[in-house]
Amino acid sequence: MQKKIAVLVGSLRKESFNKKIANELIRLASQTLEMKIVEIGDLPFYNEDLEENCPEKWTDFREKIKNSDAVLFVSPEYNRTIPGVLKNAIDVASRPGGKSVWKGKPGAVITASPSGIGGFGSNHNIRQAVVFLDIPMMQQPEMYLGKINESFEDNGKTVNERTQKILQKFLDAYETWINRF
Ligand code: FNR
Repeated sequence: MQKKIAVLVGSLRKESFNKKIANELIRLASQTLEMKIVEIGDLPFYNEDLEENCPEKWTDFREKIKNSDAVLFVSPEYNRTIPGVLKNAIDVASRPGGKSVWKGKPGAVITASPSGIGGFGSNHNIRQAVVFLDIPMMQQPEMYLGKINESFEDNGKTVNERTQKILQKFLDAYETWINRF
């Protein structure tokens, strides 16, 4: 049976490396994974006061996560932690209290950065937040993609063969992980 995967990208930049990685994963995924990027850039900042008259964008986003079978975070690291736009999305779908739509959806995280350590800090801060939200996170393979700017060919349009292989290995493990739930 085909599984629906919500892919959340922690960068809004048009030429984002992380967005390119997310799109490459979508291209490489087997037919049994229906992976789609869920937009997070237009979500109003989380504010509990707004719950009374909840913004439509929040409701739509919560529905999209609720209707997915699993979640995948693909993100840069900003100042050694989670980019604000991604943290906001995590917060929005975690509320109102007791109605989090994250609970129980198997998840995984990939971080990518031009620096050598591949967003290690962001990767683990994402894990810290979503484990609290009861997302069972895949432990292995960990995926810190360092020097990501060197992982593309064809003027940045295509991912090189080495990176493709790494991503394929990750996807295979992720599919096995999802199928355990
Ligand atoms: C960065 N960058 C960065 N890189 C890193 O490895 N560790 C870090 O802590 C930071 N901090 C940081 C803060 C802010 C505000 C910006 C804008 C950038 C650099 C970052 O990895 C680089 O810009 C990536 O290209 C961002 O990912 P996308 O947009 O290409 O997906």
